[in-house]
Amino acid sequence: MEPLAIVVLISGGGSNLQSIIDGIADKTLNARLCAVISNKAEAYGIERAKKANIPTEIIDHKHYDSRESFDAELTQCIEKYQPQLIVLAGFMRILTDDFVNHFYGKMINIHPSLLPKYRGIHTHKRALEAGDDIHGLSIHYVSAELDGGPIILQKSVPVLEHDSEASLAQRVLEQEHIAYPQVIQWIAEGRLQLTDNQVMMDGEPLTG
Ligand code: GRF
Repeated sequence: MEPLAIVVLISGGGSNLQSIIDGIADKTLNARLCAVISNKAEAYGIERAKKANIPTEIIDHKHYDSRESFDAELTQCIEKYQPQLIVLAGFMRILTDDFVNHFYGKMINIHPSLLPKYRGIHTHKRALEAGDDIHGLSIHYVSAELDGGPIILQKSVPVLEHDSEASLAQRVLEQEHIAYPQVIQWIAEGRLQLTDNQVMMDGEPLTG
């Protein structure tokens, strides 16, 4: 089977990007990274992409006077590479409805909480403050609702007694690095898709 053509969008460290690069290198992930796009020039993920000889693009949101004009440029840039899947990996921009609808069913995100709990930012801090025993991550198709699209996979991570925000974040990240390449591989194998707003796995509706 042809490798799945993907574009990854980042804003920061890119450890999830690294897990995708590593999965491709060790052949557990049948994908091809067409490009890595960042809205921040200093994102360390850009260095990771360069080391792996992946084309990089910087589209600095500060140079655009509206979300619409930024998203229009981003759309153009993504389409140059004709990806089959767009992977948001720590991409910290709120996207316009038009952008999201344009790529609906072809764009996934990873979020560090058990959605619908803790949409948005500071998820680990909020889980600790709430005294949760269980935290985790969610991978979902991106819809116009922030962190609200159809869920593909969730993984729980126990909250330990002496967890700090950093230690909890670290353990969630370790699970993210396993789960994200796995989900992308399912898409590459044609096992997973979004049909009529329903996530389908092996031809069956996926239920929570
Ligand atoms: C991850 O926790 C991811 O769930 C969230 O942003 C973080 C990105 O980390 N969306 P990295 O840049 O992949 O290291």
